[in-house]
Amino acid sequence: MTKLQVFGYKNHEESYFEFCSGINCITGPNGSGKTNILDAVYYLGNARSFFNAIDQQVVKHGSPAFSVHGWFSGETDAEILIHFNPEKGKKTIKKNGKTYPRILDHIGLIQTVFITPYDISLVLEGSEERRRFLDFTLCQTNREYLEALAFYKKIQEQRNAYLKKCERTGIDEDILDSFDARLIPAAKKIHHCRMDFVKEFLPWFHEIHSYLSDKKDMVSLQYESELNDNDYANLLRQNREKDRILMRTGSGIHKDDLLFFANDFPLKKFGSQGQIKTYVIALKLAQYRYYVEKTGHIPILLLDDIFEKIDARRADKLMELVAQEKFGQILITDTHAGRVKDHLETVGGEKRYFEIGE
Ligand SMILES: Nc1ncnc2c1ncn2[C@@H]1O[C@H](COP(=O)(O)OP(=O)(O)OP(=O)(O)O)[C@@H](O)[C@H]1O
Ligand SMILES: [Mg+2]
Repeated sequence: MTKLQVFGYKNHEESYFEFCSGINCITGPNGSGKTNILDAVYYLGNARSFFNAIDQQVVKHGSPAFSVHGWFSGETDAEILIHFNPEKGKKTIKKNGKTYPRILDHIGLIQTVFITPYDISLVLEGSEERRRFLDFTLCQTNREYLEALAFYKKIQEQRNAYLKKCERTGIDEDILDSFDARLIPAAKKIHHCRMDFVKEFLPWFHEIHSYLSDKKDMVSLQYESELNDNDYANLLRQNREKDRILMRTGSGIHKDDLLFFANDFPLKKFGSQGQIKTYVIALKLAQYRYYVEKTGHIPILLLDDIFEKIDARRADKLMELVAQEKFGQILITDTHAGRVKDHLETVGGEKRYFEIGE
């Protein structure tokens, strides 16, 4: 991305940046709008904010609309303009001046990997967060997975609705059989893709983590699924009575989880804040690597408040790592301009510094 211009985006009335192709550092005090700039870049790629599911919340208070305008060169040579008008509830996306017929057609053109302080919820929150991580990564890179997942969710919802209905009318085993017959192949496909993903992803994760931590922490990650050592058809049969009583589908890939360990102990219970942060940074950088390997595209790396909680040694290693050629353009935010400059001092490549707010 060579240039970015935003109007009415969160706290930004109007902001304009000319980025270099290497490392771009945006510094400024708390609340000056650093994270919002990274979010605007994420918006250009995903047609939604990383933080706000509702577009109305993105419009600057008192502003009639927002727009994000990005100019890209190299692999993706395009000018993207996204405009949202809350009054009309209308979002338009233009590529080189031409409006896309469907917003969905834009997704995938500009890939971003966003590393934020909120990533620690991957470790601290429930399994849903970790399934979202799996699904997000796989959906971006595997069309069949995306379709199988959408189908599974639809059939599972229909099955649950039927189980609820049956409380009054009594169950028809044949109808449940037909739901199961559709659920099983989709679940097997998803399970298979998740297994393959973890197998491929793990060596990259280990490599990045051991580099960042100087091999001080031995980390591991396990894919947990009922389908790992059970046939899903058997599981559904065994659980049918329970499903009927609870009126929902109790077994399946919607219960899967990723288990995180550091030095053989569960990370959530025994990891320090810095260890947790290092773990999630390595997870996200391995996700970056996965995108590159699978799609051949180099995502824009968005590093928000990256130096918080990790020690100076790890921060230096991180900068050395992302400055390597296999990484593309990077945007970094920090509250301390001096700190970023220090960490980047020994790192080669093009760099540009932006100070925002007062
Ligand atoms: N729709 C909106 N309209 C106006 N202001 C908004 C809107 N949404 C968010 N903001 C404000 O934008 C400000 C800047 O937020 P941002 O998270 O980008 O700051 P930051 O520079 O990253 O700060 P920190 O150093 O604390 O991370 C916040 O004060 C927030 O309240
Ligand atoms: Mg911030």
